[in-house]
Amino acid sequence: MTKRIPHREEFIEGVQSVTAYVESHRDNAASHFRAFLKEFDNLDCDGRFLEIGPGPGFLTALIAEKKPKAQITALEPSSEMIEFAQNHLQSRGVNGNVRFIRGSVDDSEVMGSLGEFDLVYSTFSLHHWKKPNTAWRYLFSKLKKNGTLFIHDLKRVPWLYHVPFGKRMLDSIRAAYTPDEISDMLMTMGIARNQYTIKTPFPYFWMSVLIRNNGN
Ligand SMILES: C[S@@+](CC[C@H](N)C(=O)[O-])C[C@H]1O[C@@H](n2cnc3c(N)ncnc32)[C@H](O)[C@@H]1O
Repeated sequence: MTKRIPHREEFIEGVQSVTAYVESHRDNAASHFRAFLKEFDNLDCDGRFLEIGPGPGFLTALIAEKKPKAQITALEPSSEMIEFAQNHLQSRGVNGNVRFIRGSVDDSEVMGSLGEFDLVYSTFSLHHWKKPNTAWRYLFSKLKKNGTLFIHDLKRVPWLYHVPFGKRMLDSIRAAYTPDEISDMLMTMGIARNQYTIKTPFPYFWMSVLIRNNGN
């Protein structure tokens, strides 16, 4: 397996980077989030949700539409992303139950202030995190009993290197993890193999990691 190369860019900050991200994702939300939403629908959960790295808020809006009673906390380090996301949610009329907090998933003070959640989720953000082990620990600690942690991200597969993607996508693929690397991280947290599932849905360069806090 090809070696992982950490992403040069952790937070997507600055008007130029945010605009580039928005432009390349604005029109493909349906395919971008298809696998995540299929799994999300199966979870059938409601209540308090924590989203990590919502970026422009395209998924946040879809979740807020699907679950109008859910209270969503969205943690994002980039102030430009937060501003865009707030406007996006407002334009869709679903900003009422969403609060944005500026901060990083590996910041103990911010994470400690958030409370507990029925669902903690994140899409396409994990491969940017500088301290993934710390992040996994904090995220798991945010779950209520029987709460679910659902992290969806790219999967590093060598054949993707031969697909003519742009530089941004290639950087992300190189920085993504393999299922074995995720298992190693979870093992260091003491999470047993039978406590989580890793799915690699079509088109097989995505993976969904699902962990249930069964309170044991
Ligand atoms: C590739 S974008 C994905 C945005 C959105 N989740 C989506 O699927 O379109 C990654 C997002 O994660 C955020 N991010 C990066 N590092 C982070 C960290 N340590 N804590 C929280 N969010 C982070 C970035 O600022 C960016 O908004």
